[in-house]
Amino acid sequence: MKKIVIAIDGFSSSGKSTMAKDLAKEIGYTYIDTGAMYRAVTLYCMRNKLIKDGGIDEKALQESLSDIRLTFQLNKDTGRPDTYLNGVNVEKEIRSMEVAGWVSAVAALGFVRRELVAKQQEMGKAKGIVMDGRDIGTVVFPGAELKIFVTASPEVRAERRVEELIAKGEKASYEEVLENVKKRDYIDSTRKESPLRQAGDALALDNSYMSIPDQKKWLLEQYYRVVNA
Ligand code: DC
Repeated sequence: MKKIVIAIDGFSSSGKSTMAKDLAKEIGYTYIDTGAMYRAVTLYCMRNKLIKDGGIDEKALQESLSDIRLTFQLNKDTGRPDTYLNGVNVEKEIRSMEVAGWVSAVAALGFVRRELVAKQQEMGKAKGIVMDGRDIGTVVFPGAELKIFVTASPEVRAERRVEELIAKGEKASYEEVLENVKKRDYIDSTRKESPLRQAGDALALDNSYMSIPDQKKWLLEQYYRVVNA
């Protein structure tokens, strides 16, 4: 069967990662979470004091980019890839509220995007990948054979995020999470560099009231429609 590139873009906490991971597992593709890459760069900034006095030290970050090594390794327990920053598993740390509070600002920097987009293009060059993010269908793989744009209301997404954080044993207030979701939507879709937008040839999916099995079924149908065409 021919191998393709599947680009899944959408708003934060729209459930796109769950969809993308499940699909990749089902069809034997590699899953790449590009949001995790921006989060890991943000964590690096925090740990190395490149975020201070309420701002990012852009010059220092630009000089440090070559010291940031991002890799993924399959976690045998979850069956999903974990993110590694310079050889250390940071999967849990990159999902914290603190990282969430800064990641959109880091992801808005042109030199960060250029570096990570080049890495993502390299990772997907052999095809057989499901990549999720904000600009996969528009910038990273504009020629992807299957593009999905996922949306859900901010309130539904905030509820999902709160459940996720609580399940991980973290404290989370619905109001605080909703505010973060809306703030990130705003920054992600209005930034100058590769703003979040639906590619002209992407299929839109509003999953506000869709179950995970229904989403999975819909996505598999789209995949088979493309590979069997
Ligand atoms: O999908 P996520 O919530 O883990 O993404 C974290 C942040 O990274 C989000 O605010 C937008 C940004 N991002 C991006 O700008 N481009 C991508 N391809 C993926 C994520």
